[in-house]
Amino acid sequence: MHQLVNLDLLSDLRGDLLSLEQLKNVPFDIKRVYCLTKLHADHPRGFHAHRQLQQLVICLSGRCRFVLDDGHQKQEVWLESACQGLLLGHSVWREMYDFSEDCVLLVLASDYYDEADYIRDYQEFLAATEIR
Ligand code: TYD
Repeated sequence: MHQLVNLDLLSDLRGDLLSLEQLKNVPFDIKRVYCLTKLHADHPRGFHAHRQLQQLVICLSGRCRFVLDDGHQKQEVWLESACQGLLLGHSVWREMYDFSEDCVLLVLASDYYDEADYIRDYQEFLAATEIR
C-alpha cells in the first residue's frame, strides 16, 4: 500500500543536504512540488485518495502520523525523519494527524494539480477499490 524509501542525507557540521532526483531516488517524473507548513495537531488533513497520482512525502522537520487505507486494510505510519520518504501510489486513502508544531512536509507529485484526480468521498473510494 505504501513504501518507505530511504533517502541519503549529506550531513556534516554545516547541516544536512537532501537531494531529490527524478527517476533516481524519486521513482516517477516530478511535475509538481508542494509544501505543508504551519500545521496544527488538532486540524488533520488529507481524507482523500487519488485516481492516478503518485506522491513522495518527506517530513523535513518535526513529525506527523499518516493513516493509510487501500480499501481492505489500514496502516499507520509515523514520518519523523528527512531520511525517509513515504511513497504513496494511487488509490490509497490517506489521513494525516498529530502534526508537531515544527512539522514541515515536502510533497513531490507525478502530475499537476487536478481536482478531477481526487476521490474525496470515502464510500466512492471503497466502491472504486471493489471494482478494481
Ligand atoms: P488537499 O490536497 O485536499 O490538501 P491536504 O490533502 O493536505 O489536506 O488540498 C487542499 C486545497 O488546496 C484544495 O482546495 C486543493 C488545493 N490545492 C491546489 O490548488 N494545488 C495543489 O497542488 C494542492 C496539493 C492542493
